Amino acid sequence: MKKIILVAGARPNFMKIAPVLRAIDKKKSSLQPVLVHTGQHYDRKMSGAFFDELGIREPEYNLEIGSGSHAVQTANIMIKFEEVCLKEKPDWVVVVGDVNSTIAASLVAKKLNIGLAHIEAGLRSRDRTMPEEINRLTTDAISDLFFTTEPEGTENLISEGHSSERVHFVGHVMIDNLFFQLNRLSESLISDSVRNLQQVLPEKYVCMTMHRPSNVDDPEILRQLMQAVQNISRNVPVIFPCHPRTRKNLSAFNINSETLSPDEQKEITNGLVMLDPLGYNDFLSLWKNSSVVLTDSGGLQEETTALKIPCVTMRENTERPVTASIGSNVVAGINPEKIIGYVNDALGKRWKHCRIPDLWDGKASERIVDILETCIFSRSALTQSKR
Ligand code: UD1
Repeated sequence: MKKIILVAGARPNFMKIAPVLRAIDKKKSSLQPVLVHTGQHYDRKMSGAFFDELGIREPEYNLEIGSGSHAVQTANIMIKFEEVCLKEKPDWVVVVGDVNSTIAASLVAKKLNIGLAHIEAGLRSRDRTMPEEINRLTTDAISDLFFTTEPEGTENLISEGHSSERVHFVGHVMIDNLFFQLNRLSESLISDSVRNLQQVLPEKYVCMTMHRPSNVDDPEILRQLMQAVQNISRNVPVIFPCHPRTRKNLSAFNINSETLSPDEQKEITNGLVMLDPLGYNDFLSLWKNSSVVLTDSGGLQEETTALKIPCVTMRENTERPVTASIGSNVVAGINPEKIIGYVNDALGKRWKHCRIPDLWDGKASERIVDILETCIFSRSALTQSKR
């Protein structure tokens, strides 16, 4: 048996780890996984609920790190994760995505000379003001093995000097999870409140998420984006499960976020419906039937592409270019007129032709487990040779 530590910490990590654990179980793999939850996200709605409904077993370790500045959060994860690595002595550490937990665990693993594999490697927004871009660049600079979701990810890594034998284009674990959850999605997995909401929604409605610091930490930008949303919501309902960071800032900046409380009896024809963060299945059941998704999330650009739902991204760039070049995503920027224009196009069914990217077929995790099993035995070759 070879031991691998899988690290998850924030909401978008959980759905990427779940299918890898399932693939290890399904294959009766020779890998022995140890699951570490850093506790970067800790509210039940941002964390625990995801573990339950994604069918992830209890982690062997919960580091209970919680919130803090980037330095505090990253440093605290490193201190506690080092203790876990020293105790468990894993052959490999596997990290996903681009959150603070990703880079913190990566630094610890490499300083202890443990093999490091990065799932969702090679993505680049080229925007170094984004904390996630720094996490992506630094994690990839020290990883031994890279799993990419799209060809551009592979090209970025090769152009940064990594040898092609270490870089594996496997597709996307997040899409594995999406297809898995869609297959088993049933009424019983959806909460009463979301089921009631669905009953009063018209055919056309918008789903939105917004939590990027660049959009929600600046009062003027947040005010301008909320005005665009209010404008859109005059014609259609906009369903907005709100991240704690955004909720806090809307109140701190005194921004008008007048919201509707749906009446179970009456169809909603328009208005902003702001909710607490939702579990995976609750949110999936809402966005998969929406006319358009308005977001600044990375993962939703990809999930909407996989289901060909129009997606309008409120950012100036994307590290996931395949979603815009062949998928259903447009990178609108943060200009209110542009955002409103794209949303109206989608509501009027004037959208571009799109297709699902290669290898987004629900089998990325199985490919990853196969490769990990092979590479684990040649670890020394991978970790000791040059990049
Ligand atoms: C993190 C990720 C981001 C990801 C997002 C998804 C980094 C750098 N960023 O951003 O890439 O898209 O998660 O949700 O890792 N809070 C709570 N409860 C929680 C977690 C956070 O109330 O369970 C509040 C706290 O006030 C905290 C703030 O939200 O200070 C921000 O949380 P943090 O984990 O620092 O970053 P996110 O904005 O969630």
